[in-house]
Parts: sequence; C-alpha cells; structure tokens
Amino acid sequence: MNLYGKDFLKLLDFTPEEILYLIDLSAEFKEKKKKGILHDELKGKNVALIFEKTSTRTRCAFEVAAHDLGMGTTYLNPTDSQIGKKESIADTVRVLAGMFDGIEYRGFEQEIVETMAKYSKVPVWNGLTNEFHPTQMLADALTIKEHFGKLKGIHLVYMGDARYNTGNSLMVMCAKLGMHFTAVSNKKYFPSQELIDTCKDIAKSTGAVIDFSEDPIEGTKGADVVYTDIWVSMGEPESEWEQRIKDLEPYRVTKKIMDNAGEGSVFMHCLPSFHDLNTGIGREVKEKYGLDEIEVTDEVFESDKSIVFEEAENRMHTIKAVMYATLKEN
Ligand code: CP
Ligand code: NVA
Repeated sequence: MNLYGKDFLKLLDFTPEEILYLIDLSAEFKEKKKKGILHDELKGKNVALIFEKTSTRTRCAFEVAAHDLGMGTTYLNPTDSQIGKKESIADTVRVLAGMFDGIEYRGFEQEIVETMAKYSKVPVWNGLTNEFHPTQMLADALTIKEHFGKLKGIHLVYMGDARYNTGNSLMVMCAKLGMHFTAVSNKKYFPSQELIDTCKDIAKSTGAVIDFSEDPIEGTKGADVVYTDIWVSMGEPESEWEQRIKDLEPYRVTKKIMDNAGEGSVFMHCLPSFHDLNTGIGREVKEKYGLDEIEVTDEVFESDKSIVFEEAENRMHTIKAVMYATLKEN
C-alpha cells in the first residue's frame, strides 16, 4: 500500500483497502506506544497545524503523534496567522509548503482544505471542516474493530444532527467498510441527497446498508453502536439552539435507547459532549432552555456501554498512521 505524498481530505478519496490499511497501521503504532518501542522514523521533518476552530483532541493528537514520530510541530491558532484575512489560502499554503513537510487544517468549508491541497506540494490533512471529519473516522473504526473484532456488518446508528461533519463522515465510513449505517433523526437533519446517493452507490460494491428513520425506537433496535454528536456545531450561530432543541430532543441518547439497542451495544461520541452542567455552554443552555443534559444523558455517557474515552485515545494512534503513511517514502 503506497499513500506517500497523498492528501487526507475525506474518506471518499480512499479505497476500502486503503482505509483498512490505515486502521491496521494505527493498531501497530498503538502497540508500539504501549510497549514503549520508539518509532521516531520521521525525524528531521516538521508539520504545520492550522486551527481556525478550537480543539482539544485533534490538536493534541497531531502534536503527540508528530513528536512520537520525531517531528517538530508549529501550531497556528484561530487568531495569530494572516490566513484568509491578509493572505489568501493559496498564498499561505505555498509559503507553508516551502517550510513544512505536511500541513493540517481545521476550519470551515471543505472547499478551503481542497484548495490548500491543490496549491500545496506537501500532504494536507483535514482536521475537521463543516462537511467532513475524516481523522475522527479512523479513530472510530479502530475503536469499533477493537471492541467487536470486525467492521463489516456492524450496525452503527447515528442520532441527532446527521447532516454535519461527523454524521456525513460516518455515513461515508460505513459505506466504504461494508457496515450498516442508520441516521435516526428529524428528516431535516439527514445528510444531503447528493451524499446519500454517492454512499448508496459505494454500498453496492461493499455490501453496506444505508438507511434512515425518524423513529428513535424503531431506528435503534438491535444497533451495535449508538453514536451522537453535539446538536449545534462549531461555527454555527448560537441562535440555532432553540430550533435544534425542538427538533432533536426526541433523539437524545438515553438508557431507554441503549436498552432498545440491545445487550452488546456500545455508545460512542466524537466529543466534546454536553451530558451534564460542567461546561459553560451546558450551563447557558440550562439557563435558557431548562435542559440538564443535551444530546446524551449523563447516565449513558458514564455507563459501562460508553467507550468514548477509548475512542478519544485512538485519535492519536490513527492520526499518527495518517502522517506516517503520507510522509514516509516507501
Ligand atoms: N473530536 C474532536 O475533533 O475533538 P476536538 O474538537 O477537541 O479536536
Ligand atoms: N460536529 C462537531 C464536531 C466536533 C468534533 C463540530 O463541528 O463542532
């Protein structure tokens, strides 16, 4: 498998074999890390980490993974750089590509990261856009594989806002890997028809099933994985909360939903999550709308079924695999 020099912008650009290769490579790196085996095979290289939106997991995962591989990192935060304001994306990326061996970008439209890749002579990695979150998908797939021992045939139900980065990407991941994806939500929040058609087309050759339900009980029956994300994403106006709560309250992940999914089911979430009142936004939503929990109850989040912290750790091992595969000459 040769991914040297390739960008990592969205899973749609990769074959199922390439995605599975990256998942296996992540597992190898995870084992090395746990055993304390040094793997600084990219010593002497440097990567730029551009974040136009905030981050805990993705930023830390890129930094730790790069350092483990022996690389240097430069973090550009949402306010310190000239990007977009004083210097175009195309100019910025040509400057950075002259100094760095790889560039991570987290920000707004997918088109921005695609433009970066077009102008960059070094690999560009998507650390989240409005439309896709592909590094999250590798971590999710590794976590599911570790838990169930397989990916093919696993039934993943996504509840909530399925038309944003995480929901879109999970549908693509399931289509590529022959999984069963069900979006369970108010139909206003289903992915775009264009992306659904693309995924259904991919599913024809992988054996995946892609379906939709507006009924939380019917839709989650027998699911292996129940997955959710926050209801209002980064970059969306705060004024969205009122309507989102009205539309998505029936799709909160509760104990009833997990019991309905069945005994062997697990709960996943890309995080951060509003499952209690220990966050600023959680408290604001409580004050304005009276909710103690938003997309998932604290009971489910803290239950034995919840594998969210294993999932979060896997962000680092999988991002390491992406950087290694695209920067290491075969
Ligand atoms: N899941 C995820 O991308 O987390 P951060 O926003 O903290 O990077
Ligand atoms: N949908 C969320 C994902 C965060 C990792 C957001 O874009 O804010």
